[in-house]
Amino acid sequence: MEVKIPNHVAIILDGNGRWATEKGKKRKEGHYAGYKNLKKLSIYALKKGIKYLSVYAFSTENFNRSEEEVNYLMDLFISCFKKDTNFFNKRNVKVVFSGRKKPLRKDILDAMKEISATTKNNTGGVFNICLNYGGQAEIVDASKNIVKDVKNGKLDLNTLDEKTFYKYLYNNLPPIDFMIRTSGELRISNFMLYELSYAELYFPETYFPDFNEKEFDKALIEYTKRDRRFGKIKNAK
Ligand code: IPE
Ligand code: IPE
Ligand code: MG
Repeated sequence: MEVKIPNHVAIILDGNGRWATEKGKKRKEGHYAGYKNLKKLSIYALKKGIKYLSVYAFSTENFNRSEEEVNYLMDLFISCFKKDTNFFNKRNVKVVFSGRKKPLRKDILDAMKEISATTKNNTGGVFNICLNYGGQAEIVDASKNIVKDVKNGKLDLNTLDEKTFYKYLYNNLPPIDFMIRTSGELRISNFMLYELSYAELYFPETYFPDFNEKEFDKALIEYTKRDRRFGKIKNAK
């Protein structure tokens, strides 16, 4: 069986905390293990020919966690973006971010700007990191920009349809073909609501730090078996 390669894969990176707790470690250690896994897995996925990989790293709702955990995650993001700029650049990966700027700290915004500017002309796949991201927020922000463009004459409202709406989403990314949420949770948690409309969904029990290349290959086999109908009836008699 030849494995089908989706154009756009999205992963909700979940289960870092439980991974750590079950090993008697601190939640922070789970986040660090998740980061190490993501670094490897992102390259693996893009090398396979997946053109867009979106990952949910921090939701708008994650600001409701303890200050200690939020600060740890922000510091981890900054150090990773700084440390890994060359890593992704050498591998020809274009790094982009989806999410709201407010209330992110300036040092993290600077680190995000730096890695995206350095990698902006790379052609070996897009790695979209959703940070301070909310799916509803993205739709609201898109709608506001649409109103602006209608007012200043850049957009004729009559030409707006489902396809052109994508242009107003954070990075004008294509629809998601395959969405993976690790750790067995069966929900979307406000992730890419517009882009997920016809995605195939997959919910492995594995916690994200253990969701390695082998698990990813298993996921692709599952995707290959899916019959994507998009509302049509195939082989009707
Ligand atoms: C996902 O792991 C990472 C983030 C949300 C930042 P969690 O931290 O949600 O891990 P669990 O769900 O508590 O195990
Ligand atoms: C979703 O995971 C957000 C990220 C993975 C960044 P959560 O762990 O925050 O989601 P809930 O709270 O279980 O829905
Ligand atoms: Mg979680």
